[in-house]
Amino acid sequence: MRKNFGPKTWLVPMPVLIIASYDEKGTANAMNAAWGGISEYEEISICISKEHKTTQNILLSKAFTISFATENFVKECDYVGIVSAHNIPNKLEKINFTTKKSDFVNAPIINQLPMTLECKFLSYDEKTEILKGKIINISASEEILENNKISLEKLKPIIFNPINNSYYVVGKKIGDAFKEGKKIDHFK
Ligand SMILES: Cc1cc2nc3c(=O)[nH]c(=O)nc-3n(C[C@H](O)[C@H](O)[C@H](O)COP(=O)(O)O)c2cc1C
Repeated sequence: MRKNFGPKTWLVPMPVLIIASYDEKGTANAMNAAWGGISEYEEISICISKEHKTTQNILLSKAFTISFATENFVKECDYVGIVSAHNIPNKLEKINFTTKKSDFVNAPIINQLPMTLECKFLSYDEKTEILKGKIINISASEEILENNKISLEKLKPIIFNPINNSYYVVGKKIGDAFKEGKKIDHFK
């Protein structure tokens, strides 16, 4: 038997994307977003409310970065999702997050979060509230590299469970994509 829950936004698990942008004075801000994903080759789409300071920043600066929230900074990453820069303009200072400007786009990189997508603004639809950006570069701190590749074991990204509003850390590797299926008899 299956229980029906009706329509919900439960695409499990969801990412924890920390979107960083500059405001009109050049002050860095960040917010937490779960409703995002790849929508085209090198293109990301995020459903982001027009009320957020971040949205207003991106419409002005035409750029943003997306870093992955990590196990080491769960409370900081949640904080940027519950406090708005409309009320607390120095949000990042409150959590001791520091930034540097991306070499590729007009947006801040949060030093404490080691993997970042650096994106150019493509479009924002006020009706659907969908923001699209082109990924111009991906950067990662050396401490999360292994054999010059990004190691998820070292990054320790967290994921969002919308069913009970909780965070989980990504667990251990359990297989190789595009290879596990070849173990099925059909391929032998
Ligand atoms: C787990 C989590 C997920 C969130 N996902 C989204 C989202 O996908 N889209 C959105 O517009 N807001 C989302 N929010 C809310 C914003 O992060 C929040 O309103 C934030 O304070 C906006 O900050 P700003 O006004 O400084 O830009 C999320 C918050 C949390 C805690």
